[in-house]
Parts: sequence; C-alpha cells; structure tokens
Amino acid sequence: MQTEILRIIEGGLMNDKRKILAYSTRLADRLEREGDIALSKCVRQIIENGVPKNAAIADAMRVLPLDTDSRLQIVEIIPTDEERHKVVLTPDVDIKIAEFIEIVNHRSELELAGVDIKKTLLLHGRPGCGKTSVAHYISEKTGLPLIVARLDGIVSSLLGSTAKNLRKIFDYAKSIPCILFLDEFDAIAKARDDQHELGELKRVINSLLQNIDSMNSETVMIAATNHSELLDNAIWRRFVQTVEIGLPGKNEILEMIDIFSEPFTTEMSEDSSKKMAFATLAEGISPSDLKTIFDRAKVKCVIGNNSKIPILTLLDGLYGIKVQDKTERAYVHFLSEYGMTQVAINKSTGIGLRKIKSYLAANDKEELK
Ligand SMILES: Nc1ncnc2c1ncn2[C@@H]1O[C@H](COP(=O)(O)OP(=O)(O)OP(=O)(O)O)[C@@H](O)[C@H]1O
Ligand SMILES: [Mg+2]
Repeated sequence: MQTEILRIIEGGLMNDKRKILAYSTRLADRLEREGDIALSKCVRQIIENGVPKNAAIADAMRVLPLDTDSRLQIVEIIPTDEERHKVVLTPDVDIKIAEFIEIVNHRSELELAGVDIKKTLLLHGRPGCGKTSVAHYISEKTGLPLIVARLDGIVSSLLGSTAKNLRKIFDYAKSIPCILFLDEFDAIAKARDDQHELGELKRVINSLLQNIDSMNSETVMIAATNHSELLDNAIWRRFVQTVEIGLPGKNEILEMIDIFSEPFTTEMSEDSSKKMAFATLAEGISPSDLKTIFDRAKVKCVIGNNSKIPILTLLDGLYGIKVQDKTERAYVHFLSEYGMTQVAINKSTGIGLRKIKSYLAANDKEELK
C-alpha cells in the first residue's frame, strides 16, 4: 500500500496523470483485497470522475509524449468535460470564433464536398484578454479535447531536442481527434534574442513550419501569442484565420461583473446605475485583472463571513490596478469619478469633509494619471 501511495504522490508532483491513474487503480485493487471495500469504492469513484468519458482520449492519455532529455511530459491533454468559466467576447470576435467553430464542426461535410480548408487559428492580443480561455471554449463547442503544448517549455536550451519534441507533439496530435493548442507561440521567435545560434534556430522554425504543413486536414490547430509582431510572415501565412482578442467594451464588462461576482452578490446587483458607473471606470483593464479584483473581494467576504461584496472593496481593487497616483487626493477623485458624493466619501473613507472639498475644488484641475 505504501508503494502505491508514494508513486501516486510522485505522479502528482511530476504532473504525470498516467502514473497517478495506474497506481490509484492498484491501490483500489489492494484495498478491495484487504477488505476495505468502502475506501476502495471511494478511490475508484475519484478515478472515474478524473478520467475523460471518451475511451479514445482516455487511451491517449496513457501514452503522452515525453521530452527527449528530461522525460517530462511535453503536452497536457484537457478533456472537454472539464468545467470552465464562461468567456465573454466583443461581437466582432464572437462572430469570427463562431465561424471557426462551424468549420471545425462541419469538417467531414467540407471534406466530402472537396473543400480542403486548413483548420488553423491564430489568437493574438494583449495579455489576460482571453486567448487561452477562447481555446478552451472552442474545445467545449467542438467536443474535441485540447492538447496543450506550451512552446516556452519546449524551446529548451538544446534546440536539437526542440525539433524532435515538435515532431512528437504533431505526431501525437495526428493520432487522435483533438485540437492542438500551441500556447505562448512566440517562444520560438523570441528565442532569437537569446544566445542561440541563428542557423540552429532557423532549423527549429523550419521544422515547425514543416510540421504545420504536414498536418492532415483533420487536425485542428490553435496558436496563441501576446507578441504577434515577433512572428514572421511564413508563420502568419500558415493560419487561415487570425483573430485579435482585445480589451472588452462596456457591455462585455457589465456581463463579466455578473459572472465574476458569482456565487456572491454585490451592491451593484440591485443598482444598475452603480454597475454602469463601475463598468465605465473599469474600461481599459483586462478581464484577467477584473477577475482578480473580484476574486480578492470574494476572499475578504469569506473571511469576513459576508455574502455580499461591498462596492468599496471592488473600487479599492480597481483603484489599485488602474490609478498609478496613490495619493489621498487621487483616491478621492477616483471615488468621486465613480459617482460618490462628498458625504459618502467621508463616511466610507473617514477623510474629513473639508479635505475632500479642497481636493475636489473647481480650481483643482490638475490631470490625474
Ligand atoms: N474574455 C473573457 N471573458 C471571461 N473571462 C475572461 C476573459 N478573458 C480573460 N478572462 C479571465 O481571465 C483569466 C485569464 O485569461 P486567459 O488566460 O484566457 O488570457 P490570455 O489572453 O490567454 O492571457 P495571456 O496572454 O497572459 O496568456 C481567465 O481564466 C478568465 O477567468
Ligand atoms: Mg494565455
């Protein structure tokens, strides 16, 4: 029993699902043999819930490709039944993503009709706006698992092995119906700035291009990058669709406020003008930052045993991320911009009314950053 437990811990620490599954099954068998039926059932239940429903994917998970040198896993397989947050997109992006999903979902009909279209999508844009989330969303809508390969981890100091690793990843993706997701796609291009020999790097990029070109029309590939400017034309050309995921507009922020505050309520839940004022102030920050503001406020709620998130906690979070000027005057201006009266600011912050008035005086026109 000790052996099984030790191997399961090792598997967990090495992120090796195969090992965890194999030794958990052995543990359940042993418990059953030794008469601890209840615990054995419990272990089997956990295994069942953790293994994807699709048998082909469950099989594929047992033979994940490994790094040539370190023998660590170079891809992660994410079954479609994994629960994710809802992704909120601007209408123009939504249309393009829906179009890609349609192409993937009708790939058999398209092939039958002789329409040979590559299913390749490049997602680019600022950090934290939803590129990775969109890849998961597409996986959910197409029923295809994501094979996630983080190129930053694959571009090892030994570029020779990088080409071998790329080959293994693409071969693996060909072996099952899936979406190959190359996250942090710029890592290869970025390696140019490093100490690597240029010729060697060129060979890696060529190997990436060859792998993309040799993909069969069944394989779906999504790549994501924050640094699209680092990708050269040869790489851009490989993508049939390129979509920029930018900052959300006010409508999307309003929707995110509801999603990110779940399962709590906020003072904004019943007051649409407060919600609108908050959304206006939140324009310009990424969904990821907005989510962090709500997550931190929820932590405070749990610790303070509240079920309602106070608006001031959210405003404080927004102020912390958005406003660089951390003076009392800037804070008062920020709260006033949100729509708080001088009395309300006084009540919630304890700053004297006279001070608040002077900060907000008409002649105080200096621009706040
Ligand atoms: N458009 C969105 N709708 C809903 N939630 C979002 C959206 N964008 C980001 N988020 C939230 O922010 C988190 C981070 O987003 P995500 O990882 O998808 O961004 P990214 O563009 O891939 O960032 P990076 O460039 O840093 O990889 C997500 O887990 C999600 O909770
Ligand atoms: Mg990402």
